Amino acid sequence: MSTQSHYDNHLASFYAWMTGNFDAKQQEQEEFFRSKGLVPHSNAVALDLGCGHGLQSISLARLGFTVHAVDFNQHLLSDLNARAKGLTIGTVLANLADVSQYGAEAELIACMGDTLTHLDSPSQAASLLREWAQLLLPGGKLVLSFRDLTEELIGEQRFIPVRAEDDRIHICFLEYHPGHVRVYDQLLEKRQGQWIQKVSSYKKLRLGVESVKTMLEEAGLAVESHDVIARLHYLVATKPTVSAK
Ligand SMILES: C[S@@+](CC[C@H](N)C(=O)[O-])C[C@H]1O[C@@H](n2cnc3c(N)ncnc32)[C@H](O)[C@@H]1O
Repeated sequence: MSTQSHYDNHLASFYAWMTGNFDAKQQEQEEFFRSKGLVPHSNAVALDLGCGHGLQSISLARLGFTVHAVDFNQHLLSDLNARAKGLTIGTVLANLADVSQYGAEAELIACMGDTLTHLDSPSQAASLLREWAQLLLPGGKLVLSFRDLTEELIGEQRFIPVRAEDDRIHICFLEYHPGHVRVYDQLLEKRQGQWIQKVSSYKKLRLGVESVKTMLEEAGLAVESHDVIARLHYLVATKPTVSAK
């Protein structure tokens, strides 16, 4: 099962439910951007890569950016479009691997909410970070948030209860491999008194936060902040105003 088919055939249909209160989560993201001074300063274009249903896109648009929201899942983009009424957000159905489909000069690029670990390999992540750095205007910012999965959970720690209601339960199971974790999303739904199980899995990269910082530096960016919020590592990196090379 590829990551895209995992989203297309399974996760996208309950992603918004799994995430919980959209407005509260969106406001947390908006507050993060504001606290880091991530507001428009030059061309006011932001790319939100792996935008999902829009937690960062809506926040960036509310802060005054024109947002190009990119994702390979149409269900989540439609959800975002329904929330984006009156905001300057354009959605792009594309795979992040193909920068030519969404590349534009931007003063801010966000790849947040663990999207980075969805990429195929560390070398693909490093090469995309280099391409994204090229798209940034001088002084522009690249913002990442992702989980560092290098430390292995063992035994029952690998079962993560995500959300439960009377008729719906979502549990993640993590299977550790060298270099990646296979994530199983188990969904149980009660229909006409019967529990129906649907399970599907995908691969997440085990990217260490220090190795991602090195990738950012090798892409010519300077890491200016590192915060850990709800077990996600938030990195903000800046493109120098005068090229060091
Ligand atoms: C964990 S979600 C994060 C969504 C959003 N940024 C958030 O914080 O809620 C990862 C998103 O990236 C998208 N995605 C993963 N790999 C992708 C790729 N190679 N190309 C385009 N979208 C991708 C998925 O469809 C999903 O919407």
